[in-house]
Amino acid sequence: MIVLGIETSCDETAAAVVTDGREVRADLVLSQLDEHAPYGGVVPEIAARAHIDHLDGLIARAMDQAGLDFAALDGVAATAGPGLIGAVMVGLMTGKAIAAVHSLPLVALNHLEGHALSVRLVERVEFPYLLLLVSGGHCQLLIVEEVARYRRLGTTIDDAVGEAFDKAAKVLGLGYPGGPAIEQAARDGRADRFQLPRPLKGRAGCDFSFSGLKTALLHLVRAREQAKGGVLTAGERADLAAAFQGAVIDVLLDRTRNAIQLFRARQPRGDTLVVAGGVAANAALRARLQPLAEAGGLRLVVPPAALCTDNAAMIAWAGIERLQRGLSDGLDASPRARWPLDPEAEAPPGMGQPGRLGPKA
Ligand code: KG4
Ligand code: ZN
Repeated sequence: MIVLGIETSCDETAAAVVTDGREVRADLVLSQLDEHAPYGGVVPEIAARAHIDHLDGLIARAMDQAGLDFAALDGVAATAGPGLIGAVMVGLMTGKAIAAVHSLPLVALNHLEGHALSVRLVERVEFPYLLLLVSGGHCQLLIVEEVARYRRLGTTIDDAVGEAFDKAAKVLGLGYPGGPAIEQAARDGRADRFQLPRPLKGRAGCDFSFSGLKTALLHLVRAREQAKGGVLTAGERADLAAAFQGAVIDVLLDRTRNAIQLFRARQPRGDTLVVAGGVAANAALRARLQPLAEAGGLRLVVPPAALCTDNAAMIAWAGIERLQRGLSDGLDASPRARWPLDPEAEAPPGMGQPGRLGPKA
């Protein structure tokens, strides 16, 4: 089985061709970083336009690299949400057009399912497994029971963890994207010079919160700058980055510890903790998760970085997993800005009501 994957849910335009033999024939990602940089964040309209400008050419290049024409495909998988609605529409409509013209089955895929199953493209990981999904848009702990069957154990009640890294880096004047910049700066810093809070640490459950931590960092930086009437020294910046990263990792570990207990109780056969999403690239996080997983009787698996950040290979692969189980979608599938992977998951306490449209993810 050979499937074309299309990903346009945020600011990466991506196309990939993957086989059911786990062969990645093409895997192209075009970042829009430069287009959004002048605005200090992702602008939804710019993202949608950039996808329109680049997607067709990118798909043509991917097919070229794979050495195939569309007729040789067995299906098309396109991200249908959650994400920026205009951006999602571009990829989904393109996927539908290719499926319609070449009479191929379509999979209108949940982006989070792409992240959740990505590990199985590179490793033999059996269901069920525990997943820590940490990216710029999401921070969740999920039990992956089977394809199309997920149980959310916890989610963030405010910022996603990657978003927190990005905002902290901005406060520290470290540039964008913030995660790698903070990790780099933290290598030269002392984590114990500045004290920062650990939101929700020690509480029951598996939910996350990062906005208070970000604000605490902002206050520390302001106070420091005012006291000296100037900017931070490189040493202070490194120490603050180390303190922030340490606090974030403490929170992630504490919540994951609770999730491992729940997972072991509910799924005694399960033996793996998978980490996915852009923040999984953080070496300090991985180093501290390893002993935690071992103590809980689980092996830790982190897919390679290119598969952790947004890409279309994971979308194509999740499409294959669905098609193998006879799951496909009609050409009337709708793009969705909000789309929780676990429809029965309740909003975490403290988040309030998710509003008329329901929770995002
Ligand atoms: O998965 P991803 O590429 O895109 C989203 O779906 O959001 O994740 C990007 C996020 C950014 O917030 C970035 O700052 C963060 O992942 N990130 C990191 C590291 N590398 C990327 N965070 C912490 N440490 C890193 N080394
Ligand atoms: Zn993502």
